[in-house]
Amino acid sequence: MRILIVDDEEVLQDVLTSLLRREGYETVSARSGEEGLDLLRQGDIDLVLLDLMLPGMSGQEVLRQIRKEDPHQVVVMITAYSSVESAIDAMRQGAFHYIPKPFKNEEVLLTVRQGLEQRRLKKENLTLRDQLQQRYAFDNIIGKSKPMQKVFELIRLAAPAKSNLLILGESGTGKELVAKSIHLNSRRSEGPFVTVNSGSMPADLLESNLFGHERGAFTGAVTAKKGLFEIADGGSIFFDEIGNIPIDTQSKLLRVIQEKEFMRLGGVETLTSDVRIIAATNVDLEATVEEGRFREDLFYRLNVITVSLPPLRQRPEDIPLLARAFLETFRDENEKELDGITSEAMELLIDYHWPGNVRELENVIERAVVLSTGSVIDVDLLSPAVRHKRPTAGFDEPLPPQGLPLKEAVANYERKLIVRALQASGGVQKKAAELLKVKPTTLHEMMKRLSVTVDQIVS
Ligand SMILES: Nc1ncnc2c1ncn2[C@@H]1O[C@H](COP(=O)(O)OP(=O)(O)OP(=O)(O)O)[C@@H](O)[C@H]1O
Ligand SMILES: [Mg+2]
Repeated sequence: MRILIVDDEEVLQDVLTSLLRREGYETVSARSGEEGLDLLRQGDIDLVLLDLMLPGMSGQEVLRQIRKEDPHQVVVMITAYSSVESAIDAMRQGAFHYIPKPFKNEEVLLTVRQGLEQRRLKKENLTLRDQLQQRYAFDNIIGKSKPMQKVFELIRLAAPAKSNLLILGESGTGKELVAKSIHLNSRRSEGPFVTVNSGSMPADLLESNLFGHERGAFTGAVTAKKGLFEIADGGSIFFDEIGNIPIDTQSKLLRVIQEKEFMRLGGVETLTSDVRIIAATNVDLEATVEEGRFREDLFYRLNVITVSLPPLRQRPEDIPLLARAFLETFRDENEKELDGITSEAMELLIDYHWPGNVRELENVIERAVVLSTGSVIDVDLLSPAVRHKRPTAGFDEPLPPQGLPLKEAVANYERKLIVRALQASGGVQKKAAELLKVKPTTLHEMMKRLSVTVDQIVS
């Protein structure tokens, strides 16, 4: 264990050094705050003994700088009796403890021992968190829930294949994130990844974007232009919101997929392109096919492999992980000092129904971080929608097609209640059945129907 002593008084340096060395600690000394910070930046310091009164940069400034550069560093302040108030102030700023001068050796050793113990715990926590993040994330996609683990598995298997893919999921469930990850894990990862926002364009503009055009192909085509299929050659092309593609364009798309050939608008030359198509939609594409607004043959061409992203409300166990990850991102972006989310606030996040899914959660955390002034995110920083629990779950659910069909919505509600009861009863089904006032056999049947398992709850 290495301890840095920052003190300008030679006598004190010597006393502390020999005291700590006798106990078997290694020590390094600095005469000023600046020198101390330099030594810290070289790494390998487990605890800092910092005098409050220093020439040049004050002890408080040094503390602030240390907290900024390494928030996990343990700092013990040494102060004269007269400055106990500033010592308390320093503790508010994150110092571990303070030792008033003159001090007893025992006091110093005890505080140092406690400080190092805290350091050890923090380090352990950090490595634990790193492990968690590695296990529960695939590229940037976070999720420990069973359905998300299945998604990771599917990406792992499907990404290297040649097949086209269709990604399904409500708005904000991470479809684009998954599309990128599939590309990055494919053999085309060195090639381009091109996104087509199919939704917002009239057919002729979309087609000239996709296939390109020759000079003079239409009024305004003063130069020739490459289309996205040419640009994406050797890579992947991502059709966002494929359900909105006009039916005429769908036929042309189908031809490119089947023949791997196309022509620029106004062109005579046949061009080839080797692309993989990844499509995404948040509408029920099969229903769109039935209504005659989407070509069935195109649907089957795209839907070789389906990746379904579950809505966030069906995987509440992912919420704490996601919330913490977003907290860290926005904390660093906004240079805030935040340790975490209170358990009351986290409970509200877990209970909320998240119609905007992960994107909405991301926004809620960003807002909370920006508005925060303290060291934690508490209930008051959450947006009103999250804070005000609805009296009955499912009450303001949107209706299909954006919302869930009645059957599914009811099933979700039942699943939630059963999970709660099982949690409250520590996974004992008989007790959970009592809480819900149903027969154990009924509960058993419901769990089977709703695919709720006990190990899913206890973990
Ligand atoms: N599992 C996840 N882990 C981490 N971040 C996620 C996850 N899912 C979504 N996000 C984040 O949420 C936001 C929305 O994700 P994305 O744009 O991929 O959703 P989408 O399904 O394409 O939404 P839309 O249908 O509205 O286009 C992004 O900022 C993305 O980084
Ligand atoms: Mg998207």
